[in-house]
Amino acid sequence: MPTHPHHHASSSSRPQSPRLSIYRWQTTMIASILHRISGGMLIISMLVSIYLFSYIISNTENLFITIDWMRSWQGTLFLWLFGITATYHWSNGLRFLLLDYGIGESRERMKQSANLVLWTIPLSAITLGTWLWL
Ligand code: HEM
Repeated sequence: MPTHPHHHASSSSRPQSPRLSIYRWQTTMIASILHRISGGMLIISMLVSIYLFSYIISNTENLFITIDWMRSWQGTLFLWLFGITATYHWSNGLRFLLLDYGIGESRERMKQSANLVLWTIPLSAITLGTWLWL
């Protein structure tokens, strides 16, 4: 990349974006990556749910089979993960929408709100886990 020795203010000593090694893991980056991952997981969860709905409504036998599966550790794990994923994605989704309206755009606020939505993960994991397993 060409350097511009005459533009001291904009180039010489400041980090340039192609230098990937200067990036640090930050709460805002983690929140953003997890939003994509949770979005993908929600698509899978929705497909499983739609399949289960169509399976349940075909006859009552299938309803009881589904209830048994939901109560098995696999079904319970599915509900737990779906719940955590939804709580996170919807919380951070709301955060992203607010940011789109210019709410909380300062560096400090972005960091605080990223922290807040990241806390929904352990909190929903514990709350849902307690409800599902105890
Ligand atoms: C089950 C329902 C949902 C599914 C399957 C879903 C799935 C997704 C997926 C796959 C993405 C793209 C992620 C990426 O590639 O970066 C996305 C983005 C997004 N979702 Fe959701 N989502 C759901 C519900 C919600 C809800 C309820 C909200 C709001 C509270 C929300 C807010 C957003 C926003 C704002 C984005 C864009 C993020 C960006 O600017 O990059 N989503 N969603």
